[in-house]
Amino acid sequence: MTDFVTVARVDEIPPGTVKTVRAGEDEVALANVEGDFYAVQAACLHLHGPLGEGELEHHWLHCPWHGWTYDVRTGLNDFDHAIELPTYDVRVEGDVVQVRPG
Ligand code: FES
Repeated sequence: MTDFVTVARVDEIPPGTVKTVRAGEDEVALANVEGDFYAVQAACLHLHGPLGEGELEHHWLHCPWHGWTYDVRTGLNDFDHAIELPTYDVRVEGDVVQVRPG
């Protein structure tokens, strides 16, 4: 199993924000939901919009291009649960956030 890699400092991603980070070969949207971190694939499943530049509303992540919305906790699309973004394991170690690449 792949090891966790450090992707950001905790203070780089305040609660309520999301950012694109790189975990190994994977581009990941890393979200801070009230202090809990979640990571999903950065490319939207519609037309590959950059979810790390989207808007986070509690646990809902809105794609900046056409507004598809995902639950960052599960990767599920809010409208169609057959649409599911890959998610990643996340942990906080001291003052850094780590993600396990897929
Ligand atoms: S690319 Fe994300 S909603 Fe269209």
